[in-house]
Parts: sequence; structure tokens; C-alpha cells
Amino acid sequence: MPHRPYIVGNWKMNGTRAMLAEARAIDRAAGRYPDVQVALAPPFTLIGALREAVSAMGVGGQDCHTQPKGAHTGDVSAAMLVDTGADFVILGHSERRKDHGEGNAVVQAKADAALAAGLAVIVCVGETLAERDAGKADKVVAGQVDGSMPVGEGALDAVAAGKVAVAYEPVWAIGTGRVADVPDVVAMHATIRARLTAIYGEAGDKVRILYGGSVNAGNAADLLAAEGVSGALVGGASLTADAFLPIVAAAGTGEA
Ligand code: PGA
Repeated sequence: MPHRPYIVGNWKMNGTRAMLAEARAIDRAAGRYPDVQVALAPPFTLIGALREAVSAMGVGGQDCHTQPKGAHTGDVSAAMLVDTGADFVILGHSERRKDHGEGNAVVQAKADAALAAGLAVIVCVGETLAERDAGKADKVVAGQVDGSMPVGEGALDAVAAGKVAVAYEPVWAIGTGRVADVPDVVAMHATIRARLTAIYGEAGDKVRILYGGSVNAGNAADLLAAEGVSGALVGGASLTADAFLPIVAAAGTGEA
């Protein structure tokens, strides 16, 4: 694995302050695996408290607005995420694309806004089952990469600095317990890498490509060992330290 492995937990719309104990336990373990970059993206409401509670791992948001401030009821800007202690943001998750009608152009604008505010970004892409069954998975995902990745002022520098990641999350594998076959993951990561090179040139090599979709303790080692997989975006299995830590362990060697 040429990049430092990146294991990110996406808590989605789960978690109240009672779950900070899990975050602390995950953070303690993150300290034992310094070769792995570990991060959690809790709901907006927990970012500040989680930032205070942890020291070894990254803390991020699950979305941000394209604008820095203004009349956008219910939205949160990238600058606000920074202010509350976030260091990265997940953008273009399939649940945002589906539930909130976010298309590639919006995701790209959000990614540019996030980088401009100083956040690192994880841009999510992935095909639906119907698209895969129709043989269109490659085309769909390539189009999402082409349309969603940040290209604004400073984007290339952020890419070169390793602040930009892609998460390949086949929609049919998210929360379903159905994980993509390793050869399919390898093939799609190669497709994504080719698009990143087309967009960013040599700097595109610095973009880590994570796999997401039903990653758990049982399948993490195989997925993380796969060619071109630099980490994982983990939903359900990131909600408890017991479920998440074996995934972190599978990515690293640890100190002991
Ligand atoms: P899952 O979610 O691990 O629960 O499948 C992954 C994600 O949506 O990021």
C-alpha cells in the first residue's frame, strides 16, 4: 500500500453524547496504530464534543454548504466545520446524492468550498445495482469522479498535499452486508486512479482511494490488502469501538 492507510468512520445520523465513550476508545486505539490515519465523522451536533474528547484521530463533518455563510436555513458551512474543530468533510455520499438530490456539480462546489476553508475532503462515488447490472458501473463512477472532484483555486496544491481522498462506495453495498468482490474493487479503483491522473496529472497519485460498503472485521483485511485500496470508509461498523478497532488493526501493524 503506497499511501498511509486511512480508516474513516461515518456515523451518519447516529450518535448522541452518550456515544463519546466509543469515540474515546477508538481514539486510544488510534494512538496505538500510528501508521494508520484514523478519523470519525459524527453528526454535526457532536463534532465539537468529539474534538474535545479525542487526540489521536481526525474529526470531520458529513456534508457542508457551497457558500461560507448566508440565508441557508439548516445548512452548515465549511468554515463552521473548521470553527467547531473538524479537519475534514465527507462530500457526495450516496445518501446525500439520493436524499438531497446532490449532483456532481454541487458536490464539486462543496469540495472546492471545503478546501478553500482549509478542510481535507473525502469525495464519495459509486454506482447503483441497476447501473452495475446494466454494465455501466465504470462509466457512472468515472463520470462522478470527473464531475465531483475539486478543481478550484488551490485544489491541485491540496491534492499534492494529500488532503483529497475518494471513497468508492457501490450503493448496493452500503448498509446491506453485501460487500463488493475484491477483483471488482481493484478494477474500479484502477478506473478511478486513471481519472484522477487525467484531472490532476502526477499529483493525482497522492489521492487516496478508499473502499466503502459493508466493511467489517471479517472482510477488512482482504479489502485493505487489495491493489489500489488505501483505506476504508466504514458506516455501521464504526459505531462501536469493538466493531471498528479490528478494521483499524487490519490496516496497520501497530506498535506492539
Ligand atoms: P456501511 O456504510 O459500512 O454501513 O455499509 C458505509 C458508508 O455509507 O459510508
